[in-house]
Amino acid sequence: MLIEDLVYRIVFDSRGNKTVECEVHSAEFVASAIAPAGASTGTEEAVVKDVSFIEEVQDKVSKALVGMSVFDQYEIDRTLREIDGTQNFSEIGGNFAITASLAIAKLASQILGIPLYMYVGGAFASELPYPLGNVIGGGAHAKGSTSIQEFLVIPVGAKNFLNAQYANALTHKEIRKEFDKRGIFAAKGDEGAWAAQITDEEAFEIIKAAIERVESETGIKMRMGIDVAATELWNGKEYVYRDKKLTTDGQIAYMAELADRYNLLFIEDPLHENDFEGFAELTKAVSCMVCGDDIFVTNINRIKKGIELSSANTVLIKPNQIGTLTDTFRAVKLSKDNGYEVVVSHRSGETEDETIAHLAVAFNATLIKTGVVGGERIAKLNELIRIESEMEHASMVKIRRL
Ligand code: PGA
Ligand code: ZN
Repeated sequence: MLIEDLVYRIVFDSRGNKTVECEVHSAEFVASAIAPAGASTGTEEAVVKDVSFIEEVQDKVSKALVGMSVFDQYEIDRTLREIDGTQNFSEIGGNFAITASLAIAKLASQILGIPLYMYVGGAFASELPYPLGNVIGGGAHAKGSTSIQEFLVIPVGAKNFLNAQYANALTHKEIRKEFDKRGIFAAKGDEGAWAAQITDEEAFEIIKAAIERVESETGIKMRMGIDVAATELWNGKEYVYRDKKLTTDGQIAYMAELADRYNLLFIEDPLHENDFEGFAELTKAVSCMVCGDDIFVTNINRIKKGIELSSANTVLIKPNQIGTLTDTFRAVKLSKDNGYEVVVSHRSGETEDETIAHLAVAFNATLIKTGVVGGERIAKLNELIRIESEMEHASMVKIRRL
């Protein structure tokens, strides 16, 4: 089956920004994918090309891909790299590349009559990731709120995905009540997490209180995590919080202290994106998941460096950071071969595209980070509920570092 047509169109993301959708056709089959967009992006991410170049890119990409087999994903992705000709997709744009790459994989799975997770992950992909839910947020996603970008919860005691998402949603609601009780005004940030003029310590305390109620009501044990997005706090010398400034040593000690005090299961980007050594020091000092996002940007060269220096034990996977499904797959494989755990993630600017739900299952990810509420987050969460209900033998993954 050959790719017969490939069209790009401009659509909108959850922040109201223009983004690109790619639609591919083969006989009576049609599939599409939409590019998400970050706000706290890593410097080494694939370049996002302005959507005003749509016609020029469409011309280039469709000329190269139309007529190729929909099942030759490797060759399709190699061709995308070839027509771009740069390391970071600065010519055709990572946004244009990833949408073509994913839309074609979706088309292939549709033609075969199997779900995308099975096409990418094989017949034995049967484990659901735990949802890593953003419940209070600040940083680049809600300026004026907390310094730490994301306060996350993981329903580690849930026996299935439906109950896992229920526990996260309940926690989100209980946090609202906790804000009301304390007389604090809270609104929602870019990812649907609560945003308020509070310190990071207050956020932890509020979540702790909410979790206790959720645990006693549902019997589901919850753990906390954070995405510090520390590159955003780093001024070249120190980490600048709303209530303090920390040197690198101070930051490492603070992270270890938070991990201990709040029994954190997950810490993402605790140091800035080029501090591979600082990451390693923290990873040695704590027993929880230490996850690299901006530091790795789903890029095998950066992940390799991290592995060599023992910088982390978990990798955040965002397909649009690297630009093709093949490169995303390679990043996952390299990480897993070296004992890293995988977390598949949304971006702060999202759409109704649900592809990452399938990729999380296909890659046997431990966690999926895709918010708790809001249509663009629920699109992925509900898709995982559908996947779970259609599977013959679904189970939750085993979290190694509990
Ligand atoms: P972004 O951030 O999508 O705004 O880049 C999300 C994250 O840091 O994980
Ligand atoms: Zn992050």
